[in-house]
Amino acid sequence: MNEKIHVLISEEEIEKRICEMGKEISESYHGEPVHLVSVLKGGVFFTCELAKRLSIPVSIDFMSVSSYGNDTKSSGVVKIVKDLDDVVEGKNVLVVEDIVDSGRTLSYLLENLKSRKPKSLRLCTLLDKPERRVTDVHVDYTGFAIPDEFVVGYGLDYMQHYRNLPYVGVVELDA
Ligand code: IMP
Ligand code: MG
Repeated sequence: MNEKIHVLISEEEIEKRICEMGKEISESYHGEPVHLVSVLKGGVFFTCELAKRLSIPVSIDFMSVSSYGNDTKSSGVVKIVKDLDDVVEGKNVLVVEDIVDSGRTLSYLLENLKSRKPKSLRLCTLLDKPERRVTDVHVDYTGFAIPDEFVVGYGLDYMQHYRNLPYVGVVELDA
């Protein structure tokens, strides 16, 4: 790989912010259990770190939806690649995502989950690119709002690479 990666958000900054988010989220559920719906694959890294910072009872399930092919542009097509194992009816569902970009994936996912009658449904994302939004999505908890740049690391990939970077970086594609 010839791409160069520039650090945008350091490992320390991310850890500090996730601690704050864990506290905020725990307080807002007032001791009630929360059912994390982690969006594969990118959301997994953030989900694990966040889950460790929650002081309320936590259960976790996974779902995989695709909206992107192996490039940096949205195809606009969303489909469920892997569905949840457990029912969400009556549960406080918190969807945990790596990034909200156009909002297409999340708006589809949230509508889908809403129809399964959870007790509550909220969205938490590590990163948000508000400038890129084409579909309105209400984000309840945001780690960092970032500019319109293609980022990798902390779960996010470029052609399936770099998910394991412990920081968030910007890819210089022409390097
Ligand atoms: P959306 O449907 O456009 O909001 O796209 C959401 C999905 O696109 C995310 O879950 C990511 O998998 C992917 N994505 C969006 N922006 C980036 C980026 O900057 N880097 C890597 N993946 C991204
Ligand atoms: Mg994702």
